[in-house]
Amino acid sequence: MKQFEIYVNGQPVPATPGQTIAEAMLANGLRTCRNTRSHSPRGVFCGMGICYECRMIVDGIPNVRTCMTPATPGSRIRVQDDGVIEMDP
Ligand code: FES
Repeated sequence: MKQFEIYVNGQPVPATPGQTIAEAMLANGLRTCRNTRSHSPRGVFCGMGICYECRMIVDGIPNVRTCMTPATPGSRIRVQDDGVIEMDP
């Protein structure tokens, strides 16, 4: 399988076709997807689209469930701070 990169908080993360964003992150030791309003980190919990704990900002779109979203080459993903959701310019 041909590997490609996604970018999580600006850092390149290798991914393979068919992997979700969450899978690629976990395979590379990245566990935090978002921070709650009280600044507690959250990550993948159910892994099947039910709990919404894996929400991140993907290509400028907030609240994307990364356990359900395929990694695509060059995607820009950011940890979501639920206290301050910013849109990319
Ligand atoms: S980990 Fe539960 S919705 Fe993604």
